[in-house]
Amino acid sequence: MTKGIDSKTNIRNCPVFGNSSLFFHLTFAAKSNVSFGYMEAKKVKESLVVMTELVLPNDTNLLGNLMGGRLMYWMDIASALSCMKYCGSQVVTASVDNISFENPIRRGNVVTIHAQVTRAFNTSMEVHLTAWSEDPVQNSKCKSNEAFFTFVALDPNGKPRKAPPSEPETPEEIELYEGAVRRRQVRLILSGKMKPEDARELKSIFMKEV
Ligand SMILES: CC(C)(COP(=O)(O)OP(=O)(O)OC[C@H]1O[C@@H](n2cnc3c(N)ncnc32)[C@H](O)[C@@H]1OP(=O)(O)O)[C@@H](O)C(=O)NCCC(=O)NCCS
Repeated sequence: MTKGIDSKTNIRNCPVFGNSSLFFHLTFAAKSNVSFGYMEAKKVKESLVVMTELVLPNDTNLLGNLMGGRLMYWMDIASALSCMKYCGSQVVTASVDNISFENPIRRGNVVTIHAQVTRAFNTSMEVHLTAWSEDPVQNSKCKSNEAFFTFVALDPNGKPRKAPPSEPETPEEIELYEGAVRRRQVRLILSGKMKPEDARELKSIFMKEV
């Protein structure tokens, strides 16, 4: 069973999490060799991390399925590595969006996690993760999870530091880049760090004029 990355269940198709219109600043940023002030833009594809794990008995619950916590641990490491590649510094997990568990992963399956930065803001970066499980004996593969994690780049003193601006290139990278601003507003509102009335891009998908 193979589910495409663009299937209708994909959370990027939700209005809050993604759409396909282009912003001016994005088309500008998508040109190569663009610098934003003193910091050169970075291609988001340079942050791609692909992690492969074999589900061993110690990773499973009483039903013989991979424990959700173990998968989240692997996702946290994959996304931290992706952000470290992207910004070239230490990073910390700031938040984890809702992780969907679409299909159980069985003992003996191979789990492949793809992690890639969608967009950097000032000191924070959003990472998009997908997890795929594969039965090497049955030769079947399906998408089991999808999530967005947020990390903050740190300076040597452990203080937040600026991350390079992002340069998405493919239509999928551009779609994720655009949706990132609204997903960020949702998580900052939920964590009490942003007033709902300040979330302009988020409001614009619910109201015609804001
Ligand atoms: C994440 C952390 C560095 C933020 O520090 P802070 O003092 O709140 O700093 P700021 O308010 O300046 O926020 C820094 C960035 O984090 C982002 N941020 C803060 N809380 C966030 C949240 N809940 N969700 C998403 N982003 C968040 C801010 O938007 C800001 O991003 P920006 O610079 O791109 O605009 C700090 O809370 C921390 O160290 N937390 C513990 C991290 C940790 O230990 N993680 C491992 C889990 S055990």
